[in-house]
This record gives sequence, structure tokens and C-alpha cells, in this order.
Amino acid sequence: MVHKAVFQRRFASQPFNFMAENILVVGACGQVGTELVLTLREKHPNKIVVASDIKPSSNEEFMQGGPFETLDVLNKEQCFDVVKKHGISQVYNLAALLSATAEKNPEFGWKLNMEGHFNILDLAREGHLKRIFWPSSIAVFGPSTPKQNTPQDCIMDPSTVYGISKLAGERWCEYYHKRWGVDIRSVRYPGLISYKSLPGGGTTDYAVEIFYEAIKNGRYTSFLGADTALPMMYMPDAIKATIDSLEADPDLMKVRSSYNVGAFSFNPEQLAGAIKKHMPEFEIDYNPDFRQQIANGWPQSINDQTARNDWGWSNEYDLDAMVFDMLENLKRKLAVTE
Ligand code: SER
Repeated sequence: MVHKAVFQRRFASQPFNFMAENILVVGACGQVGTELVLTLREKHPNKIVVASDIKPSSNEEFMQGGPFETLDVLNKEQCFDVVKKHGISQVYNLAALLSATAEKNPEFGWKLNMEGHFNILDLAREGHLKRIFWPSSIAVFGPSTPKQNTPQDCIMDPSTVYGISKLAGERWCEYYHKRWGVDIRSVRYPGLISYKSLPGGGTTDYAVEIFYEAIKNGRYTSFLGADTALPMMYMPDAIKATIDSLEADPDLMKVRSSYNVGAFSFNPEQLAGAIKKHMPEFEIDYNPDFRQQIANGWPQSINDQTARNDWGWSNEYDLDAMVFDMLENLKRKLAVTE
């Protein structure tokens, strides 16, 4: 254990090295992190993109593609050491407990989502980082929020630990920016759909599980009811929103809490209908569980005009394009792995 004063001196004596411009992804083995690391490595071959997580990934290709650090975002000294070791100037901090998991363990959900956020914010405030990305979520909205075409600014009364932590985190982003000039970028992710890695512990996870079950078993039991519409996005667009927002000219980033970003919305019945166009035999039934209540408090569609105006956000995939791509890629993946 390093004494606090010694710890602070160590930080003070190692200011940011402006020659090094490398990138660190925290929470890199998760649904977003896996694809973000792969994309950043392709996009920035001249930079080191360091993947980090609480434990290594089982995906060998991912692990062999560049440096990996075992890192607990709750350990600030460890974060500092990794930043210095690799000459990091940008951090994408994706470590979080998602909505359904955090409801089962509220204390730890709050701790991880807030203290991890502060550790990275503070490294930036102390001058060790130039820019950071931290994702917020549609979970910041709540039962009193307008459900359709939810605006950038409106009533926000989240009723989950995850949503409360994300809303508080957004306010801290803005505070650190205004008070200390921390250059933080953030978008509110809708439900994210991907085939490369699985989501973990979210209310929108049904929209990924359904594809696996459709291909393996031809049927799916949804844990959300047939008409529960939620805003969703295909992973390539989520990666684009993430990187575009971090790399945008600072003057364009007028919102320093977090931007609404949208792509499309559907309910389980509509998603099943889109899958049936390719797999006519596919069947769905419904058995809502505790996640139904979480979904009931969230928007059904998102107005992301502010992000479109400010830094040129746009999505590429609509529902049908996403379904086609998911089925193609997942069939190939499952044929190889099973
Ligand atoms: N996909 C997340 C969840 O369901 C929302 O950001 O928890």
C-alpha cells in the first residue's frame, strides 16, 4: 500500500509526456471493448492500443493483436502505472456493471461505475491524460422522461442503480470539464447488438440472444414482452459513435455531459418479424422477468439531432441491414466454433 502523500508526489513528478500519444481501453474484454480495440488497432497502426481488463480475454486473436494489461479500474495506482508504462494520452473507460447485474448488486454497481470513473477523470485532471471517453446510456432516462423521440435535454429520473450512476457520471463529466478543463467525450449508448462478443448483464441483451437461439434452435423465449420497444444500435455504428466523438475537434463538442445517439427502435415482436424474413420457421414466445420493469422506464426512441448537428454523428445500419449482417456473421461464427 503506497502512502497517500507518496502517491501524490509520484503523480506530481510524472507529468504528461506529450510525445507519446497511445491509447488505453479499460474494460476491453466486454461487448464494446473487444470491437473497439480491434477497430482502433486497425485505424491507428502507428499508435499502441493497450487493451486492459480485470482478467484476460479467452479470445486468442484479441490477446495476440497487441499489448494487454490486467487492470482493476478501482485501483488508481495501477491505472496510473499502465498510463505511464505505455505513454497513454487517451483512455476509453468502458468498465461498468450494466443495468440488470447492477440491480442484483447495487453497492458494487455504484462503486465500480462511480469510483472507476473518478479514477480516470482524476488522472486527466492531474494532467496525465489528454482526452477521455466514458459511455453513458439511455438508462439515464426514467419514467417521467418523454418516451418517444426523447430529447437531448429533458426530465431525467432514472430508477435503476445503473441509470443513477450514469446520470451522476454525466454530471461529473461536465463538472470536470467546466472546472478543470478535462477533455471528456461521452455518448448515451442505446441497446447494442453485436456478434463478435456477447453483452453481459443488460436489459437489452435479448436482442443479441435472440440471434444465437434462432440459429441454434429456431426459437426464442424473450424476457421482455412483445411490445416493449427500445432504442437499439448495431455495433459498427456504436464503435463509430465512440471513436468519432473522442476524435472530434474539441470546439465542436458543445455538450460535455453526454450526447444522445440513435439508430433504430424495435420491440421483440418486430425483431422476430425481421428475423423471420430470412428464417420463416423461426418462432418467438414471451416470458417477461424483472428486466421488464427496467425496460418500462426507458425511452422507446431517441432524438439525436444535437449530436448530428454538433459533430456530424450519423448511423449506417437500419434494422434490416443489421439483421442481415448479424445472421450472416453469426452463422459463420457458430459453424466454426461448434
Ligand atoms: N444495454 C444497457 C443495458 O441494458 C443499456 O445501456 O443495461
